[in-house]
Amino acid sequence: MQSYSLSASAKINLYLEIIGNRADGYHELAMVLQSVDLADRVDLRPTVRDFIQVHCQHPEVPEGPRNLAYQAAALMMQKFPNFSGVEITIQKQIPIGAGLAGGSSNAAAVIVGLDLMWQLGLTQSELQELGSELGADVPFCITGGTALAVGRGDTLSSLPPLDHLYVVLGKYRSMAVSTPWAYQTFRKRFGHSYAQNVETLESRRERVHAGPMVSAIFQRDARQIGHLLRNDLERVVLPEYPEVTQLRDRFQQLDVLGTMMSGSGPTVFALTQSRSQAEQVRETVGAAIASPDLDLWVAQMSSTSIQPL
Ligand code: C5P
Repeated sequence: MQSYSLSASAKINLYLEIIGNRADGYHELAMVLQSVDLADRVDLRPTVRDFIQVHCQHPEVPEGPRNLAYQAAALMMQKFPNFSGVEITIQKQIPIGAGLAGGSSNAAAVIVGLDLMWQLGLTQSELQELGSELGADVPFCITGGTALAVGRGDTLSSLPPLDHLYVVLGKYRSMAVSTPWAYQTFRKRFGHSYAQNVETLESRRERVHAGPMVSAIFQRDARQIGHLLRNDLERVVLPEYPEVTQLRDRFQQLDVLGTMMSGSGPTVFALTQSRSQAEQVRETVGAAIASPDLDLWVAQMSSTSIQPL
């Protein structure tokens, strides 16, 4: 049995609308998800049966069963017994607790990698179904690219690629936002405006499906995409993190197509039309804020997520 090395990309949300409650306790969402080429490296090495080991040098990444990559290996071993165990080494580039689905992407890499290592030949939808048992973002991380996501965020339709666009990502190293906290706080504060019946829910979902953001993506209209960025979770996260609002305002003042928080934050991104423009923005914001706690990256939109190296 062979070892595999994979790159596992981060994702950003170009659009995140919270529509209502679901019977399973999650939220009904309509999102546009986008892979970017900021990526972790995940190495998988076969070992003795039933054995799972995670190695990661990052001090805040758990190496045991709390790690989603560990859980992905455990799930695969439960579904497909009689294959090898696995030793997983993760080299983090994607910040954690950042709203960039880093943990979900690592789990997606383990599912895709074990499918290759064990020569299972699973289809994309079988891989995604396994991923959805681990978390709402994992199915998207398996396929990547640009996609409309509804339901819990795991019912996906692919959209045309936006590889011609770039982002500057900004995150304060010492800050992390808990995703359950963000959604629960949103429910407490804005639950009264949720869709109250199936008809309203479906019509709001349809409004996004047939709406201006999806059409701007089909037309590859970068200005419109920048103009139509939306993330409902900003309403609860930004008031708690004034530095994040300040960073977002800095981006906004520059020549960018648009700026928005990704997922449950606290990462903020600014959309640009070229790499040089993105680099210019990174330099300007880095000099203006000059905080040793602020990390800034330039990344390109990507049409893939998990790639063998
Ligand atoms: O599925 P995942 O573990 O990534 O989700 C983290 C948390 O985000 C959930 O426990 C839930 O509180 C919230 N969430 C939600 N509705 C979704 C996705 C996530 O309420 N569609």
